[in-house]
Amino acid sequence: MPKITFVDYQGNERSVEASSGDTVMEVATSNDIPGIDADCGGACACATCHVFVNEEWLKVVGKPGDLEAEMLEVAEEVTEASRLACQVHISDEMDGLIITTPESQF
Ligand code: FES
Repeated sequence: MPKITFVDYQGNERSVEASSGDTVMEVATSNDIPGIDADCGGACACATCHVFVNEEWLKVVGKPGDLEAEMLEVAEEVTEASRLACQVHISDEMDGLIITTPESQF
């Protein structure tokens, strides 16, 4: 089972078990990770699941698709490492993935 580590803007870390096929958003909300509201339930329509992918993991996770990139335009603090957590599907190769939640979502 891949393990995902969530880090908040203050550096507090929490590692949780995930299942391949789940989204990062689903893993976060089912584990009460703060800073990921996911208001639209994963429909790529709210941007309240905006997260930063740790630099080392950017290649594995990949870039946002067109719709996701459009939604990211309404998010705050967007960087090259930004993704919408509901659009990132976890695979076994993401074991150890590190995700940071933006300060603006707290
Ligand atoms: Fe709404 Fe991800 S949960 S865009």
